[in-house]
Amino acid sequence: MSYATPVLTLTAFLFLGGLVASAESLPAYRDPSLPVEKRIDDLISRLTLSEKIGIVHAAGTFRSGSVPRLGVPYLYTDDGPQGVREEVGVTSWGPTGQTDDYATAMPPGATVAATWDPALIESMGQALGEECCARGKNVLLAPGVNIARTPLCGRNYDYYGEDPWLTSRIAVAYIRGLQERQTVACVKHFALNNQEVMRGTIDVDVDERALREIYLPAFEASVREGGVLSIMGAYNQFRGQHCAENDYLLNQVLKGEWGFRGAVISDWGAVHDTREAAMNGCDLEMGSGPHFDDYYLARAFEKGVQDGTYPMAVLDDKVRRNLRMLYATGVMDGRSAGSLNTPEHLAVSRQVAQEAMVLLKNDGALLPIDPTRCRSIAVIGENAVRTFAAGGNSAGVKAFRETTALAGILERAGDKTNVVFSVGYRQPIVHLVWPRDKAGVARTELTAMSPEEQTTLADRAIAAARSSDLVIFVGGLIHQATYDDEGTDRRDLSLPAHQSELISRLAAVNPHLVVVLIDGSPVEMGGWLKSVPAVLQAWYGGSEAGRALASVLFGDVNPSGRLPITFPQSLEQTPTYAGGARAYPGVKGVVHYDEGLLVGYRWYDTKNLKPLFPFGYGLSYTSFAYSDLKVVSAGADAARVECTVKNTGDRAGAEVVELYVHDGHAPVPRPVKELKAFAKVTLAPGESKVVTLELGPRAFAYYSTGTRHWTVDGGDFDVQVGGSSRDLPLSGTVRVANAQL
Ligand code: BGC
Repeated sequence: MSYATPVLTLTAFLFLGGLVASAESLPAYRDPSLPVEKRIDDLISRLTLSEKIGIVHAAGTFRSGSVPRLGVPYLYTDDGPQGVREEVGVTSWGPTGQTDDYATAMPPGATVAATWDPALIESMGQALGEECCARGKNVLLAPGVNIARTPLCGRNYDYYGEDPWLTSRIAVAYIRGLQERQTVACVKHFALNNQEVMRGTIDVDVDERALREIYLPAFEASVREGGVLSIMGAYNQFRGQHCAENDYLLNQVLKGEWGFRGAVISDWGAVHDTREAAMNGCDLEMGSGPHFDDYYLARAFEKGVQDGTYPMAVLDDKVRRNLRMLYATGVMDGRSAGSLNTPEHLAVSRQVAQEAMVLLKNDGALLPIDPTRCRSIAVIGENAVRTFAAGGNSAGVKAFRETTALAGILERAGDKTNVVFSVGYRQPIVHLVWPRDKAGVARTELTAMSPEEQTTLADRAIAAARSSDLVIFVGGLIHQATYDDEGTDRRDLSLPAHQSELISRLAAVNPHLVVVLIDGSPVEMGGWLKSVPAVLQAWYGGSEAGRALASVLFGDVNPSGRLPITFPQSLEQTPTYAGGARAYPGVKGVVHYDEGLLVGYRWYDTKNLKPLFPFGYGLSYTSFAYSDLKVVSAGADAARVECTVKNTGDRAGAEVVELYVHDGHAPVPRPVKELKAFAKVTLAPGESKVVTLELGPRAFAYYSTGTRHWTVDGGDFDVQVGGSSRDLPLSGTVRVANAQL
């Protein structure tokens, strides 16, 4: 990947802020030869009270700080996980309508996680960092690492699925990539923002073990391993206190136990009280204005510091944490120019989309498409002609380019295969009405299909399907209220706009039917799955979505994505459903995480439920065989496991080798199995490779609420290895000793 090193001339920073000085008289805060902490000490000593206060609250929708007198620029933040958001007003969310704010749209979180490829995600992070430099953004408000507790959460598409280990690995890679490119990551939303319904108020009641073992690990890894320099305090409450000003989460766990040295940035408008924000660990209050002086960490805080209510040291600590971000991005010394919309960035985006695609079903090897035998293709479905990068609210990107599924298929099919398109259905455009109802949701469907329109569109699609060799139905969800969208949750798992009926009708007239799902969360397939030979979970794919899809459909790329979230048979099967309204969406303002540790596959495995498609699942155009599991070394509290994986088919392909650990002897309940290591390995036809999987002490530990430490109860632990959480052909045991971590 190209990355221009900045040519930093001495004069460039000598003239910053109107200062003219000789090298010898450089003030310490400007002297790049000094350690950053010394520079920050010096800068803080020069700041007035009101300049300090200016650094700890917003001065625009996505900016804070700036001390022109000393040449300290604004700190520019921006959304969001899938690319650099378009420019919005200084005091509003309205787009400014510029022409220089197009960016590369990377695929969103669920897609990213489905690659199971941290190395690739690190390069995606680097590309995003380069785009941030080019757009002058210091902090990218990403990644989002909230766990998919319920498949209904409208923002699951923006997150990394249901498993803390997978989420942690992907998050750490993303953060490293971004921060390697002079851009600060802001891991979000800390913590327990697992539903969008009532996100601003809901109080989460979760037991300490589930908190530590399911909901916090990705944040902890982001801090301890990723070295993330900022974290976003969530909207919701935890134990009666808003997360962006929560003493336990911010002061005790994050800054105390984990030693976080960066800044806590509030979600936009997530601060509710000056004292709590000031004293409980919030370092930067953000929001969209317009009266920034009235913010809790603005005038009211300043007055409190002046009259001694809040110690100056508290303010100085916040300023220091904010300045660490600023210095890390190089702006005090001259930052890289970065690069925007380069072919390299588009290539990374495409690779992520390709590697994420999960082949759910492929009876009779219907896929990949053989263009020499398939002379005509009917592409059906509205998602074939939609673009998605702009949707979903804060995570939207004004994409420099975005290829639709239809465009990708047309381009790849070439002129020997006739491609026809028929839309088949039309998604209702959902419009939210305020105020919301008691469950936090209200909606009116502005443009639902009339029964006549539904029949006409479906009939036309059926006619096209009948007269084609192959049918590719491209459906799923969209980024809109009550589907895959910030601020609302889904009501159920159904495919909207009568898509299921249409799929059944298509299957009845043409057995060569491929269903492609473009969405970020599981949908029900019970009604049609049996009658459809091939199903591809394509997710949202970013700028190169259509091309990525075509390359998998036509076999240029062998699918290697794996599900980062269980696809249940129905909503009734999901862990939160069992607990009724108190478990989701909550009653009397409180949501009770009654399922405790049993989130995602931990629930289905422990309760012996057969999901539609399990966590970690995904087919390939080739096949793989596993053999020779060996525990090659086991220290006191860690182990190294090896196995051999062979490509037994006739195409090159990549396999995700997944390792799950089971603790059968702990004195506390433990899930049936938990993912603790994985590796993605590419194999030529007939090739074998030995795959090594490392298990650290945490792989065996649980969080003891008695000692408040991670604890390993020594003994034999079962390890199982294979290509999906429900297909684990290899097993063995690892002996480890007692440990308190
Ligand atoms: C979202 C954040 C986002 C922020 C700024 C909030 O509503 O929850 O994820 O970064 O807005 O756009």
